[in-house]
Amino acid sequence: MDKEAGKKRAAEEAATHVERGMTLGLGTGSTAKYFVEVMGARISEGWSLRGIPTSEVTRRQAEQVGIEIITPDETTIIDLAIDGTDEADPSLNLIKGGGGALLREKIIANAARKFIVIADKSKRVAALGAFPLPVEVEPFSWALTVSQLREVLTEYGYQNPVLKLRAAAGEAFNSDGGNLIIDCALGRIDNPANLDKSLVEIPGVIETGLFCGMTDLIIYGGGDGISTERG
Ligand code: 5RP
Repeated sequence: MDKEAGKKRAAEEAATHVERGMTLGLGTGSTAKYFVEVMGARISEGWSLRGIPTSEVTRRQAEQVGIEIITPDETTIIDLAIDGTDEADPSLNLIKGGGGALLREKIIANAARKFIVIADKSKRVAALGAFPLPVEVEPFSWALTVSQLREVLTEYGYQNPVLKLRAAAGEAFNSDGGNLIIDCALGRIDNPANLDKSLVEIPGVIETGLFCGMTDLIIYGGGDGISTERG
């Protein structure tokens, strides 16, 4: 089974956790896209669902399939957030942000009553860090912030880590919030929760792609079916 089929399977399984009338946090990326598609099928069957999209791309898709879009300010209750991931370790810590939506994704995952991650099985890793860690930073002082990131990373034992300003079509990539992303190629991350805390303490760092202690359930899809891990 190819990766796309695994993503789709995981998305379909996640849909079994959705009930009529729920307010959903809608993730970003190719796996989350399959989930939004399935929610569109529920809408066609007469369900009503409200969604808070974590990116403009997801907002457009969710609108097209008929999900009622609301902003985070319009509710205090998000029943369930569903999102993909770039990596997940056995303790259900994640690296996210490959699609550049990490800030909104983290806000919504943290606020939701339940956070379910969906992924093809290739996303499961023994330890985080093969995927470069995205860090969202303020454009005003980004170069200064990069040097401070280096300092903190050196304290964590990373010698000369490669930190790259994310680009798209030859220009600096801007998140939906207008911020920049620094992709930090670190290699193995032994204590993601501590690293996350230290990095967000740097003025200018808005958020990191480390999602620690947030995931209630991961659903992996693959050739041999579905497997799940609970937090
Ligand atoms: C976007 C994300 C995505 O969830 C992550 O990049 C996984 O994407 P995909 O499902 O396309 O592999 O964090 O910011």
